[in-house]
Parts: sequence; C-alpha cells; structure tokens
Amino acid sequence: MNPVEIIIKKRDGQILTAKEIQYFVSGFTNGDIPDYQVSAFAMAVYFKGFNDDELYQFTKEMIETGDIVTPSDNMKNYVDKHSTGGVGDKITLIVSPIVAACGLKIPKMSGKGLSFSGGTIDKLESIPGFNVNINRDDFQKQIKDIGIGIIGQSDNLAKADKQLYAIRDVTGTVESIPLIASSIVSKKIASGSKNIVFDVKVGVGAFMKDIKSGITLANTLVDLIKDFGGKSVAVVTNMNYPLGHYVGNSLEIIEVVECLKGNLPKDIEELVYELSGQLLIIGGKANNLPQAKLIVKEKIDNLEALNKFKKLIEYQGGDSNIINDYNLLPQSKYNIEIKSDTEGYISFINAEKIGMISLRIGAGRINKVDKIDYSAGIFIPKKIGDKVEKGELLGKIYYSSNDLILDSIIDKFNSAFEFSENPLNEPVMIFSVIR
Ligand code: URA
Repeated sequence: MNPVEIIIKKRDGQILTAKEIQYFVSGFTNGDIPDYQVSAFAMAVYFKGFNDDELYQFTKEMIETGDIVTPSDNMKNYVDKHSTGGVGDKITLIVSPIVAACGLKIPKMSGKGLSFSGGTIDKLESIPGFNVNINRDDFQKQIKDIGIGIIGQSDNLAKADKQLYAIRDVTGTVESIPLIASSIVSKKIASGSKNIVFDVKVGVGAFMKDIKSGITLANTLVDLIKDFGGKSVAVVTNMNYPLGHYVGNSLEIIEVVECLKGNLPKDIEELVYELSGQLLIIGGKANNLPQAKLIVKEKIDNLEALNKFKKLIEYQGGDSNIINDYNLLPQSKYNIEIKSDTEGYISFINAEKIGMISLRIGAGRINKVDKIDYSAGIFIPKKIGDKVEKGELLGKIYYSSNDLILDSIIDKFNSAFEFSENPLNEPVMIFSVIR
C-alpha cells in the first residue's frame, strides 16, 4: 500500500477499503505521509466524497488517534450541543444553563472563535477570573454538583483532526461535507458525547452558505452519530443576520445574562426554545416539543437558569457579580455611534460583514494564536423588519485601538444594511429539523 495509490483511487471516485483508510489516517498522524499528499487526498475527498462506510471508517480512525472517553450507563442524562458557528452566536451559553436547570448534565468542550465566527470559550474568558482549563477531576466533580461545565477543547482528542484541519484551512478543502462531519463527530464521540443536538447554521454568516448544503450536512451528522450508537437531532438555522443585538465577547455575555433574565430578542428566543426543547427530549426530560418549551419557559421565568449560569461562573473561578453589574466586564476605551442616513424598513443585515468588522476591531481572531480584545464589539439596536428613521441610531461600535480607520469601518457597517420601503415579515429562523 502506498499513499499515491490511495489518492489516485479517491481521485477517480473509487471506494477505499477500511485498511486503506486506516493506513492513510495513521500515516499522516505519525508523520509518515507528508502534508502535500494529505492536501491532495483532502482535495480528492472534496470532489468525490465518501460513501457511508468510508465516512464511518475515516471517523473511527480519527477518533483512535487521541484519548477516548467511554460513556457509562450512569451518563444517560448527559447531553451535548454543538453549533457549526456564526456571528453573535451565544446560544450555547443560554441553552446550557436552561437544560442543566431541568436536571440534565451538560459537560461542554467548546472551541475558540476563528475568522468571523465567534467562540463560546472567548465569550466566557471575557468574564474576569473565568477559567476554561480546569482539570478533568474538578470538571467531573463540577458536572456532578451543578450539571454544567464549559472548558476548552482538549488537544488530545482526535489528534488527526487538528492536523488535517490545519491543512484543509490552507488548501480550500474546509467546505467538504464528509470532512466537516468526520471532524465534528470524531471529537464528539471521543469526548464521550452520545446525545447531541446540532445547530447547523446556514447563510452568509456561516461556512455553509445555502440551505441545501446545510440539510445535507445535518443528515450526514445525524446518520454518523447513529453509526456510533448515539442519538442526535440537527436543527438547520438561519445565519444570514447577526443573532440578537450584540456581537463581541463581553457584550455577548451581557446579552446572555439579559436573556436568562427573560429579555430575549425574538430570533434568540426562537432558537433557544427549539434547541433547549430538543435537548430536553433527547435527554428524556420531555416527550414532545410543546411540553419541552413550557419547561424551558418555567426555568427562565423562575430564574433557575440564571442561577445555574451564576453557579457555572463561580465554579470556574469567575466573578459572578457581573450578573448584576455589567461594569465589571471589560470596558472598551472608545465607542462610536452610527446614525442611519436612510429611512425605511430593514430588509437585510449582512452577518458576514458584521463579523468581519468585529474581527477588524479586535473582537475575533484571524489566526489561532491571535490575542483578542474582550471589550470590543458591536451593538445593533434594530432587527430585520424594524422601521428606521433618518438620523436614528443604526449601530454602536466599541473599540480600544487608536489605529483603526474609522471611516472604512463605518462604510463597511452601513454597507451591511439593506432597506425596503414596505413592511416585512420577520425572517424564518429554523429551516429544518432532522433526526
Ligand atoms: N467545525 C469542525 O470542528 N470541523 C470542521 O471541519 C468544520 C467546523
């Protein structure tokens, strides 16, 4: 067996055997197969795909390149949620305390943000003192005690994925559905998750740009989890517009707390009720969605979910006083208000453009090693369908760097908006639910 034969076979659309897949994955993980051959292989998979057996084998091999947590029977009420990433996506931080308040256990390993897409870990790290690197024993004790914990992704899980992703990132092969699915599922199965709700985001602010590809990815994820003996639901959701009113780490923490106090913007409300509801069903706490949504409402109204979030902060060393005093969160040095020079109903707010502005002002990272400014961010008071008068506030940008070219940021911000003369319906947030 040699790597070139395997690359050619895949290039020509043939089916790889389990042995060939094992040879290739172990070869590139231990350094025997060089990056240029891995790149060619990734491109061949991008064009020719995998059938179900190949995808399962490839994912299994990826899992076996790192640590594996085996779930036990007493982990039946453990659930996990995974978002494919978006702009202003703070949903995990709202949903996790809600389901923990319902008696489910949700130990979460989350990633850092990259490019225009924000990361849950960065948002949490904006809370003074919050530690995302606690050791395994303390983490397990925390989950036993309060049902919720959120830490950074371990480098030891599915090690092959890290190497392969680094190559995909620079070879135009990130957007391959089998490679995305095996990347996500290998880390989920290796970390012991078996009951998972996926939020598959589609739109200009997501890496899946169209609904058809989003639905294909959702089906692939659900089927692959099934192959590993797990249960999952994938909700395909709208990521054309930024979620909520805030983008940027500490600003999004404020929005999370406001949501848990019952002040949910319409788009976030719809996603939170759907995703929490699906988690309650998959975790055995509700029989159907209407029942699940009533439970979610109760946990928000009686502040039990907010209290879980407070506990989460305290267990992980953070200052929970931020819940009542937002001034304790990192504050930007400057802010600038942008007023509308148009009158009309907002018909589009381009999530990708807003995400790119958040990158430029320091709220996100271009490379994995970049430092971020937790206080930087964007406030957008209006949503799709809202009426705006000339001169009314369209947005506020929070920043601390002196060397930003503000005019170009303001131009970019304005170019994210489109207006209509006529009133509009609220956008559809949930395109499909796949189980
Ligand atoms: N998220 C992942 O973990 N892997 C991918 O390939 C894409 C998104």
